[in-house]
Amino acid sequence: MQNMDKSFIFGKATYGDNFTDREFETVRLSGNFRSGVNTIIVSPRRWGKTSLVRKVSKIINDEAGEVKVVSIDAFLCRTEIEFYRVFANEVIRQTSTKLEEWLDYAKRFLARLSPKFKMGTDSPVDFSISFDVDTDWQSEYEILNLPQKIAEEKNITIVVCIDEFQQVAEFSDSKNFQKKMRSVWQLQDKVSYCLYGSKMHVLSGMFSKQSMPFYKFGDLMFLQKISTQDWITYICSRFEKTGKHITDQLAEKICDSVDNHSSYVQQFAWLVWTKTIEIAGNEEFDEAYDDLLNQNGILFYQYIDGLSSYQLNFLKALADGNESGFTNSDLMKKYNLSSSANVARIKKALEKKEIVDISGQKVSLIDPVFKIWLQREL
Ligand SMILES: Nc1ncnc2c1ncn2[C@@H]1O[C@H](COP(=O)(O)OP(=O)(O)OP(=O)(O)O)[C@@H](O)[C@H]1O
Ligand SMILES: [Mg+2]
Repeated sequence: MQNMDKSFIFGKATYGDNFTDREFETVRLSGNFRSGVNTIIVSPRRWGKTSLVRKVSKIINDEAGEVKVVSIDAFLCRTEIEFYRVFANEVIRQTSTKLEEWLDYAKRFLARLSPKFKMGTDSPVDFSISFDVDTDWQSEYEILNLPQKIAEEKNITIVVCIDEFQQVAEFSDSKNFQKKMRSVWQLQDKVSYCLYGSKMHVLSGMFSKQSMPFYKFGDLMFLQKISTQDWITYICSRFEKTGKHITDQLAEKICDSVDNHSSYVQQFAWLVWTKTIEIAGNEEFDEAYDDLLNQNGILFYQYIDGLSSYQLNFLKALADGNESGFTNSDLMKKYNLSSSANVARIKKALEKKEIVDISGQKVSLIDPVFKIWLQREL
């Protein structure tokens, strides 16, 4: 399907005409890519990390300059070994378009691993490398240092972007693995890294704790929300482009109801758009709002499935607008939260499940539509 024809995109990374704003971030990130500064990007789910990094990677790769961006998704990596395999494959595959070069690089730069090649069936330029799983430090070093070797060989600089980097924290003996990565990567003068992902508390733990290997690894970017003004311009123009119309006020109402959450703004706008024949009005808005809650409801049942009744009570308190003051005994009584020690436990557990965000004394629900849904259901 041609993306340009889509009125709105949600549920996967967006691009082209369906990408808006992020001007400041684009400048900052592309600047880092060009000058070899490591970047870490953190935000709650579905705010737009993947879309932003893809956009900037494309800009840089299209410049045909001396900087080459390689993209890796760690989402499916369950072990350190799998990570090495994906890393080696993608770095080689994305830094060259010639088969001979691939073979040559793999043979020379991964010599200790006795790599084996498997050609793809679909395309003559598709291949994968496998190597013996039983790696030792020398071999691991070869893999982690592969981008540097290729950059030296081709006389370019390379940016390695790793999406869903929080996955690394799940590997067994992860801290040791992180130490290995950092120790190799920090000595590379022709390679920089852009590491990003969603599990905020996991990633913050990896990058802002002094005791962790990746502490102060690079420019730490907390992605912000897209502003209402940018969203209004975007929503209105997408309507106009398809021969429909929506007022600025209604577009603003869409943003407000989902707290400018990137993915929900697009989904909500899309629902209003599908219901609109010519001009969007309150009726279309209301219907779309119900659909939004119903469509996401299935997911929300999964969120609350398995929560204790205390945890549910706490969510109820949050949905009612209480974000702090949980040590207040009236509030604890009203929502049956037992004791402040219990509240502390609940907060930790819900943070771990990525349901709430805790900053100082303030606790808030991460997902704005989940909040509305809770208000309706609990
Ligand atoms: N710059 C943007 N302009 C318009 N819409 C955007 C933008 N960035 C993100 N979105 C919306 O948010 C959705 C999620 O974007 P994306 O997948 O990039 O987020 P993410 O932070 O990587 O999510 P996850 O945490 O799930 O990996 C997109 O499908 C799109 O609807
Ligand atoms: Mg993503």
